[in-house]
Amino acid sequence: MGIAADLADDIAGDWHAALAALAWQVESGADEVIVDAPVNRYELAVQAPKPAATNPAPQATPAVLVQVDAAAVARAAANAARSLDDLRAAMIGFDHCDLKKGARNTVFADGNPAARVLILGEAPGADEDREGRPFVGRAGQLLDKMFAAIGLSRTSPDAATALYITNVLPWRPPGNRDPEPAEIAMMLPFVERHIALVDPEVIVVVGNTPLFALTGQKGILRARGNWTTALGKPMLPMTHPAYLLRNPAAKREAWADLLSLKARLS
Ligand code: URA
Repeated sequence: MGIAADLADDIAGDWHAALAALAWQVESGADEVIVDAPVNRYELAVQAPKPAATNPAPQATPAVLVQVDAAAVARAAANAARSLDDLRAAMIGFDHCDLKKGARNTVFADGNPAARVLILGEAPGADEDREGRPFVGRAGQLLDKMFAAIGLSRTSPDAATALYITNVLPWRPPGNRDPEPAEIAMMLPFVERHIALVDPEVIVVVGNTPLFALTGQKGILRARGNWTTALGKPMLPMTHPAYLLRNPAAKREAWADLLSLKARLS
């Protein structure tokens, strides 16, 4: 075999090895690129800070460890927002939530801010992250159909038949994992300010995450259909449309919840 043929074999070998490594990562659940180059965490461990010497040389300037209270920063930024545009800018500028690093877009909201009904979801998925709008994937299409069945739409210019839609988190959790309580607590000031600025007549929470965020309560299957109060407003918990896609039999209860919403609005 000549040198050129050896080289061709090497390249082909690398290509197959790279393809096999990629297939293994996809199989293991990796579905997006977080950084450009691989990080060898074993090497990082070797480079970890060495224990202090028994007799350390005195430092000229003592290091100051500043711990940021991210929820307090969020609260100050949210409360300073006088309009939805201000709030969107404040969220885009908020750098304390790690989810932002892996997201393509800050998904703020969609629909008519004059709407009587505000729907609060969980967090963007892959489609929403790509488009920068909430509920545009399969679950979002079902959500649109469900509310259209009682005459409500996010595209309606008329407040009486309009919807406003937002999420607890504006950034997609990697691999669509459930949001962590610390992430929810950190972003809650923005959610509260968002709802105060829109000032809807009624809030509909879809799924466990927004139910937990606004009430501290867990268990959407028990809570659904039972009107309660959150942030001083009537709130209806409903199952998430993604759950309904996986459990079509639960659509009957969701329909009952929609009729209850319709009755409340009239
Ligand atoms: N699920 C949600 O809770 N929100 C979205 O925006 C999309 C899917």
